[in-house]
Amino acid sequence: MTVTIVGAQLGDEGKGGIVDLFGEPADVVARYQGGDNAGHTVVHAGEEYKLSLVPSGAVRGKVGVLGNGCVVNPGTLFDELDTLRERGLDPDVRVARRAHVIFPYHRALDGIEEDAKSDEDREVGTTGRGIGPTYEDKAARRGVRVADLTDSDRLRERLEYVVPQKRAIAETVFGVDVGERFDLETLYEEYHEYGERLVGEGMLVDAGEFLTDRIEAGDDVLLEGAQGTVLDIDHGNYPYVTSSNPTAGGAATGTGLPPSVAGEAVVGVVKGYLSRVGSGPMPTELGGVAGDTPEYTEGEGEREALATKIREAGGEYGTVTGRPRRVGWLDLPMVRHAARRSGFTGLAVNHIDTLAGFDEVRVAEAYRLDGERVETLPATVREWAACEPVYRSFDGWADADWAAIAGEGYDALPGNAQTYLEYVSEETGVALAAVGIGPDREDSIVLDHPL
Ligand code: IMO
Ligand code: MG
Repeated sequence: MTVTIVGAQLGDEGKGGIVDLFGEPADVVARYQGGDNAGHTVVHAGEEYKLSLVPSGAVRGKVGVLGNGCVVNPGTLFDELDTLRERGLDPDVRVARRAHVIFPYHRALDGIEEDAKSDEDREVGTTGRGIGPTYEDKAARRGVRVADLTDSDRLRERLEYVVPQKRAIAETVFGVDVGERFDLETLYEEYHEYGERLVGEGMLVDAGEFLTDRIEAGDDVLLEGAQGTVLDIDHGNYPYVTSSNPTAGGAATGTGLPPSVAGEAVVGVVKGYLSRVGSGPMPTELGGVAGDTPEYTEGEGEREALATKIREAGGEYGTVTGRPRRVGWLDLPMVRHAARRSGFTGLAVNHIDTLAGFDEVRVAEAYRLDGERVETLPATVREWAACEPVYRSFDGWADADWAAIAGEGYDALPGNAQTYLEYVSEETGVALAAVGIGPDREDSIVLDHPL
């Protein structure tokens, strides 16, 4: 069977840990969207592995697949594989022939367009990995697919068409001199070599066929979502989104598995609070981060102190970029939206340990917008930014011996934490599947394992 793991918030919900937990009995772990904008941390035998492209399961000896819905930077891919090998692992990663390739001009244009937007304070705050420009080329039918890297005539033909266009856009539209970065011959040589290496290492697959064959042979497949629901290009907070579909529908289109197969079990992952990297509204934000929080002026006070406490306790700094993340209270309208868009069959709530030590823990149970009570996410940024959270307050819980609690199970959790978790489950209509109380796979309580 399959299990799909989906971020229910704005990314960084701790999906890597849940993939690791629920992927334990799985044979294959496949990503279905995104690229090296993701950042998952997997802790295994006391060792920490930070990955941005390779599926987290590769650390545990699973077959990893980058599905056709992904955008692949081959340089990052081989760097991560080499690093894992240097650390004594033997990763087995396959790449869909239909996935699209990120080139240096995509990265350059990502930065150039963000710079241009920042003049009017309209930048998205992207990870700068060229994700948007690559999906843009895919949709515009001028992209280069992984399979094209293995066909020298086709690769040259594609680049001869696209590279001069990119140069013209950078230089004429944005007035940026790109110099050698967009040199056709250099790009051709480097990427043709990547193609040979992908073939040489037997990494290329037709993802849909590969995964279907494995499932028919009795294997369990875990489908690993990157980013989160509110970063979804269709269901997120457009334009402050990524350029793919992290919601469960993406698991079908991004792998070639039918929706009935990819949607069998869908676990939504949330943090007990909320974080955001980059710009855009965040009604439950505490404090703020200069440069990211709209109209933010640095301040002091209770909210700022709470934000700092959560950020430090939760290690809320970007895995990829090292940027401090914006933090706030759990936003239930957001989680309701996520549960309904992806059809969650189970909910994993992480970082319950991080929330320990607060007198009071708050949740936005709804918003108030133009005098009306709103229980789910409005469609536009303008409306969302105008939403005032309606908070419900919970008594906090003290710090505890989380490792011991993980060993004993759910009933050993502090009573106030149980009350909080059950409220979230009831309000979203999704049963609890797991509770995360630390960074390691062992630091989790499993209530309902999908496999
Ligand atoms: P994981 O997998 C959090 C955000 C960026 C930016 C927007 C668009 O670790 O949860 P992009 O580079 O994708 O075009 O940026 O999306 N973003 C993430 N935020 N976690 C992520 O991944 C993210 N990947 C992209 O900060 O606001
Ligand atoms: Mg991350």
